[in-house]
Amino acid sequence: MAQKPIGVFDSGVGGLSVLRHLQALLPAEQLIYLADQGHVPYGSRSAAEIIQFSQGISQFFLQLNVKLIVVACNTASAALSLLRQQFALPFVGMEPAVKPAAEQTQSGKVGILATSGTFASKRYARLTAQYAQGISVWEDPCVGLVSEIEAGRLDGPEVCYILQQALAPMLAAGVDTIVLGCTHYPFVLPVVKEIVGTAVPIIDPAPAIARQTSVVLRQRNLLADAASVGSVRFITTGKAASFAQQVEQLLGLAEAEVETAVWDGDQLSVAQ
Ligand code: DGL
Repeated sequence: MAQKPIGVFDSGVGGLSVLRHLQALLPAEQLIYLADQGHVPYGSRSAAEIIQFSQGISQFFLQLNVKLIVVACNTASAALSLLRQQFALPFVGMEPAVKPAAEQTQSGKVGILATSGTFASKRYARLTAQYAQGISVWEDPCVGLVSEIEAGRLDGPEVCYILQQALAPMLAAGVDTIVLGCTHYPFVLPVVKEIVGTAVPIIDPAPAIARQTSVVLRQRNLLADAASVGSVRFITTGKAASFAQQVEQLLGLAEAEVETAVWDGDQLSVAQ
């Protein structure tokens, strides 16, 4: 059982920012990373579509015999409670770091960068109602940023413009803590840092998600044998050759091997 793989998914390359922390913390685990690039971006899609894709991917992972699924996508994490009801295996999901930001802020003003889908979700509404009482929350959906990152443009003029437009009003309002509420955004962290400077902490929830994965595996006695050598299998519903290049660029790998999966209605399977 413990030697089974862990499934990790996102709409595209964003979840790789979580995957790298999983690899560092759990080096004995076999990971399967699924990028649903046939449907990227998720952020502007309806809740019903996100649920349908997340269910299809979870079903696909079950067929690959995974022991746990990491939803490495804030937008798809809106579907978490439904997935937990429907599938009999543990899920770990993203949560925009509203709680740590609210605990950390001195000015009582925090800025959150996430997708429109995340901001519109019940999960996000619940989080802010629970943890951001008395805190002013500045939100920006950074329209177009996910597509820039998917295109490999991590510090181009468009990325700088989108982030400048998002962050300048927040900083002018006195925000003193910024949350990266989309797993794609850690890949443009250098640009965010350049705009906000060193005095404003930027919170990326990915390391906490990796720690939570480790806790759940330990609690359920699912940790891989410490002597095992971990691995990652990369799968995309988009183009294998371009995803291989993205993985190489973003994870600094010399060569990545990528398989393709295809959607047939709401069923997903590995292309033969
Ligand atoms: N990386 C995802 C997230 O964390 C989704 C981005 C998108 O596809 O719009 O929300």
